[in-house]
Amino acid sequence: MTDAPHISVLLNEVLEVLSPKAGGVYLDGTFGAGGYSRAILQAADCQLYAIDRDPRAVSVGESMEAEFPGRFKLLQGCFGDMEALLAAVGVEQLDGIALDIGVSSMQIDEAERGFSFMQDGPLDMRMSSDGMTAADVVNEQDEAELARILFHYGEERKSRQIAKAIVARRAEKPFARTGELADLISSVVKVTGKGIHPATRSFQALRIFVNDELGELSAALSASERLLAPEGRLAVVSFHSLEDRMVKRFLGARSEARGNPSRHLPDQDDRGEVTFNLIKRGAIKATKDEIAMNARSRSARLRGAIRTSVPAGEVAS
Ligand SMILES: C[S@@+](CC[C@H](N)C(=O)[O-])C[C@H]1O[C@@H](n2cnc3c(N)ncnc32)[C@H](O)[C@@H]1O
Repeated sequence: MTDAPHISVLLNEVLEVLSPKAGGVYLDGTFGAGGYSRAILQAADCQLYAIDRDPRAVSVGESMEAEFPGRFKLLQGCFGDMEALLAAVGVEQLDGIALDIGVSSMQIDEAERGFSFMQDGPLDMRMSSDGMTAADVVNEQDEAELARILFHYGEERKSRQIAKAIVARRAEKPFARTGELADLISSVVKVTGKGIHPATRSFQALRIFVNDELGELSAALSASERLLAPEGRLAVVSFHSLEDRMVKRFLGARSEARGNPSRHLPDQDDRGEVTFNLIKRGAIKATKDEIAMNARSRSARLRGAIRTSVPAGEVAS
């Protein structure tokens, strides 16, 4: 890890959604640098479990267990497996879940993790240390599948041209470094007027695919419905439209998207078989001040909801 601190995004807003209470049991599904975890533990005399799939985040975070003796436990694994990870430590119900989807600044800034097209490093992109690397994907998938990945997960309009160029280039020499891939993509996609790096969308696509980020999110949303106690709170922060759309659709279906913010309507009994009530109809975004302090917060979208007492699985998605 580098020394660059990860600045938590929408921290106050996430805390407001979660509203931690004394005696409650909470989950921070994306520990990262522990910004949310620390704030939750400081906000109330509650119990907190945290998950991260990155072994480095877990080893750095373990020192927090000593800081909050008996109140905090960090678990290594994927948040898509939260039910099994929590069951292994005897937890079956939660009062709140926070998810801050994506990569941390530490992961992006460390060239050796292979997430960045700005710094050369091995073409890896795994948040954990197992499974397929991005190099495996670009060197082994066929052209049509590569094009599909770039289009589906990166919304890259030049996906077919890039896939074709990748396949031609790897026949000469397989890709090993982020710089090699970024250079190849730059030769196919010219810089747009907005000035984003030509490899931005392709790198995002590969990262999402390598880490099965959408599969993880989908599993976590379903699990949250089963794990949250009545009145339990869910806060999900995402950074790109594919993820935000998934959260919006899930919560929309579960709340029937009637646009009835529940905060002021505690009596939910007459509103049908919904499993969640939205805290706010749209997404919560960073303030101008936060964006000025932390550019990464510009694309952040927070959606929050409160669990009803209707059992999970009774509402069709
Ligand atoms: C944006 S950072 C979280 C930052 C944190 N909220 C903070 O304030 O410090 C995201 C973290 O989630 C982890 N992560 C991403 N997807 C995950 C998954 N499916 N399961 C477990 N951890 C995941 C990453 O390894 C990374 O450390």
